[in-house]
Amino acid sequence: MSLAREIFLRASHSDWLADQLTRRSFTKKAVQRFLPGEDLDSALEATAALGMPTILTLLGEDVTTTEEADAVAEHFLGILDRVDERGFDSDVSIKPTHFGIDIDIDAVCARVEKLVRRAGELGRMVAVDVEDSSYVDRTIDLYRRLREAHPNVALCLQAYLHRTPADLDSLFPLAPTIRLVKGAYNEPHHIAYRRKKDVDAAFLKLADSLLQEARRGTGTRVFFGTHDPRMIEGVCRRAEELGLPKDGFEIQMLYGIQRELQTRLAADGYRVRVLISYGDSWFPWYMRRLAERPANMLFLMRSLLSR
Ligand code: FDA
Repeated sequence: MSLAREIFLRASHSDWLADQLTRRSFTKKAVQRFLPGEDLDSALEATAALGMPTILTLLGEDVTTTEEADAVAEHFLGILDRVDERGFDSDVSIKPTHFGIDIDIDAVCARVEKLVRRAGELGRMVAVDVEDSSYVDRTIDLYRRLREAHPNVALCLQAYLHRTPADLDSLFPLAPTIRLVKGAYNEPHHIAYRRKKDVDAAFLKLADSLLQEARRGTGTRVFFGTHDPRMIEGVCRRAEELGLPKDGFEIQMLYGIQRELQTRLAADGYRVRVLISYGDSWFPWYMRRLAERPANMLFLMRSLLSR
């Protein structure tokens, strides 16, 4: 892992830095590249302007009170109504710690299930993100409980974790919908691959298993959450070899990253969906984006110099 990545991932946990930087106008300006705004209206306007299917998410994590978690769940229900009013092809994505997994998993399950049920009535998906490795068991447990009753729920799995191939095998009998990503947290060697080439190799191997399972027609569906042109090329080539149609899987990217590639893939007939995040709790999330690509620091520096 590069030193820059390590520094940004450590910074993502600093309350002091969060307090300092979220108040500065130059950081707010730099973050606009990835975040259309701090409220739902901004995310809806960004969806309209993009003209592509999207996934909407309110930023936030590590909620510690039941009242806060209930308010978050209500907010997400409201997203579904607003999206429906506008007739957008938009799903939602949630983080278990935002829904209170540190307080009580049964209550989280009830909150997310209500959201999934409403999403199902409106023909939308709910994707469950995976956070650092200490949450993986609980998140998979949550997913199993939701998936038993609902087909419209997806689970994110991280290719950098050594455990993911075994987790995937254990999930296949459920006919899951899996969003495969590389993984964004700072994990030790014994838990995750840390070199890019090892993470990339693990991603392509897992992608192969997922595409084969989708090809078998077992009900498994697959989304690939990556901006990496090499991963996307590998996935598209393998899907073609297996005879999967271009719309037999979905490629998902974050708002503001690889915009040209998003447009090109959609024009080529692939299913592309853009994840739009909004909200005022963007500091840890923005640090993880900088960790993925320290070159994005340049936008921050430019915003600082052009004040
Ligand atoms: P990687 O970071 O290896 O970069 C490869 C190439 O992609 C770069 O050379 C560059 O060309 C391009 N690129 C990547 N990031 C860029 C950036 N910020 N700016 C500009 N170019 C960039 N993680 C997690 O742990 N749990 C989760 O639940 C999720 N959920 C999730 C959903 C979706 C829809 C996406 C797209 C991503 C996530 N992630 C995630 C984040 C994921 O784990 C990973 O950290 C990022 O996607 C970055 O990895 P890449 O695969 O893009 O490649």
